[in-house]
Amino acid sequence: MKTKVAIIGSGPAGLILGQLLHNQGIDNVVIDNKSQDYILGRIRAGVLEQSTVNIIRELGISERMDREGLVHNGFTMIWGQDCQRQRIPFTELTDGKIMMVYGQTELTKDLLAARNACEAFSFYDAEDVTPHDFYSESPLVSFKHQGEEYEVHCDYIAGCDGFHGVSRQSVPVKEMTVYENAYPFGWLGVLADVPPVSDEVVYQHHQDGYVLCSMRSPTRSRYYIQVSLDEKLEDWSVDRFWAELKRRLPDDLAEKVVTGPALEMSIAPLRSFVCEPIRFGNLFLVGDAAHIVPPTGAKGLNLAASDAKELFNGLMQFYQQGDSEGLEQYSSKALDRIWKAERFSWWMTSLFHKLDDSAFRQKMQLSEIHYLAHSKAGQTTIAENFVGLD
Ligand code: FAD
Ligand code: DHB
Repeated sequence: MKTKVAIIGSGPAGLILGQLLHNQGIDNVVIDNKSQDYILGRIRAGVLEQSTVNIIRELGISERMDREGLVHNGFTMIWGQDCQRQRIPFTELTDGKIMMVYGQTELTKDLLAARNACEAFSFYDAEDVTPHDFYSESPLVSFKHQGEEYEVHCDYIAGCDGFHGVSRQSVPVKEMTVYENAYPFGWLGVLADVPPVSDEVVYQHHQDGYVLCSMRSPTRSRYYIQVSLDEKLEDWSVDRFWAELKRRLPDDLAEKVVTGPALEMSIAPLRSFVCEPIRFGNLFLVGDAAHIVPPTGAKGLNLAASDAKELFNGLMQFYQQGDSEGLEQYSSKALDRIWKAERFSWWMTSLFHKLDDSAFRQKMQLSEIHYLAHSKAGQTTIAENFVGLD
């Protein structure tokens, strides 16, 4: 089989890139080692930046997002034993940029529906997916599918296969530098069909650990609480989760929490990770394959979308004008944005989480949050990073 771009991975990065290319008549094949049902069952991110919203609109698949997504113009920060709070009106502070609450699961559903409706080739449940010869002019991806052996010959390979994927692992270690920070805590998350406690997202610094109140719709809530990495999911009933959430929240919010059965409950470890560069010959890494951010700040999915757009721009320039400059600059331009999002995610994580038992560090955190909350410059710093830097 021959194509222009072989895309490994059918998460947001792979599907957005595939659809952008398809809409411009650039032939591509998507290969994933999981089924579509499995992919749609993953519960992950929920907040889209303006730039991601723009990409989905450009793809022509925004009808449901524009109808069902919740436009947000601010979020609230809570801190200290006296539960001080401050709203960050990010739209007002960023000349009108919004955030859209629309679950990654719903976005993936829309992207898969668009992919399935067009004539582009996709392979799901593929086995032994392997990129080959990407330092040559004739790379290929091999895999097994329904008992048959396949080779997809292409001009370029896009490694959109997430943090544990095969693309980055196929690159000789000496070709890349890895920057990594693991945090000694995780997020215990619950998704439940109950109305959210607030119309807007709430970030709370609490002496016993961070709390995030988010949502997927007016009737579906997403809550997270910081837990130690020693915590085991089996030790957490949903009732224990609700009790701990209410214990940490200020009384007026705790009273408003509506509890119910969990649709999903999981513990996610927090990690910062970047590999440099993110182009290796004719293999380009895109999204979580190249970098991971801790979720504080909601950047993971948005970075995956902006990487995909950046690579698409380079491929367009090459296929439509014969100019490879955009592809040559992909790694450095994407990394510039990636590092800014890494910094913001690391900073918000360091600011809002219980880091250790040091009373001094906790005082420093509270003092910094207090300063940021009451300074227009401080609020603007948070706002412009939260909605996404240009
Ligand atoms: P992925 O979504 O991981 O997609 C990769 C695809 O590649 C998958 O379909 C996978 O099946 C496929 N694949 C993997 N290996 C292979 C292989 N060997 N061969 C072929 N295909 C392969 N971000 C936020 O902004 N907010 C959040 O609240 C948030 N919560 C998260 C919770 C969890 C548990 C996780 C894991 C991530 C979360 N993220 C969150 C991050 C966000 O979901 C990711 O940044 C986003 O999914 C990245 O998209 P991607 O397409 O790069 O990778
Ligand atoms: C979610 C929302 C956030 O604001 C964030 O930083 C991380 C995750 C969510 O809704 O899942």
